[in-house]
Amino acid sequence: MHILDALQNSREAGATLVELTIEEDLTADRLTITVHDNGRGMSEAQLARIFDPFYTTRKTRHVGLGLPLFKAAAEQCHGDLTVTSQLEKGTTLRATFKHSHIDRAPLGDVPGALMVVILGGTCDIHFTHRVDGKEFEFHTANIKAELGGIPLTHPRICKWLREFIADGERDLR
Ligand SMILES: Nc1ncnc2c1ncn2[C@@H]1O[C@H](COP(=O)(O)OP(=O)(O)O)[C@@H](O)[C@H]1O
Ligand SMILES: [Mg+2]
Repeated sequence: MHILDALQNSREAGATLVELTIEEDLTADRLTITVHDNGRGMSEAQLARIFDPFYTTRKTRHVGLGLPLFKAAAEQCHGDLTVTSQLEKGTTLRATFKHSHIDRAPLGDVPGALMVVILGGTCDIHFTHRVDGKEFEFHTANIKAELGGIPLTHPRICKWLREFIADGERDLR
């Protein structure tokens, strides 16, 4: 859910490309999640307030708990969350966790979170998941190019994509 929330922040920031990297280094006992986007970014002043639960630029509700909760989850697991950003350039979020920490939530439905973003708009996603030596990676721009005009939302493409991601994730284990 934290990953999904971060991806949605990128989308709300008008990003056209989001790079999500999940790195599981079992030797170092480290999980690192990086979300890099080319959205509108944040000023120094905005950035200074992002971990304040009462800071949000959304108009639909008055609290923005996504980032404070993500940070709390990382810190609880001997990790941390950092956000760097540049106006008009984009934002990079990096969360680290002690992989084996008893309070670390499982990665959960990563294919589901990816599908929400892939089907939910115009934003391309470059996904990389590494588990020790193994890697699963795809870029929606490359998939779109191969499809030559058939939209990713086409029911059969959608089904294929879901299976492609689920298989890729499964092969990492
Ligand atoms: N990737 C991002 N790009 C630009 N601004 C961001 C990004 N992520 C978060 N923000 C800013 O930080 C605020 C707080 O984010 P968050 O804690 O997830 O709460 P919410 O999404 O509910 O507003 C957002 O309203 C937005 O202004
Ligand atoms: Mg949010």
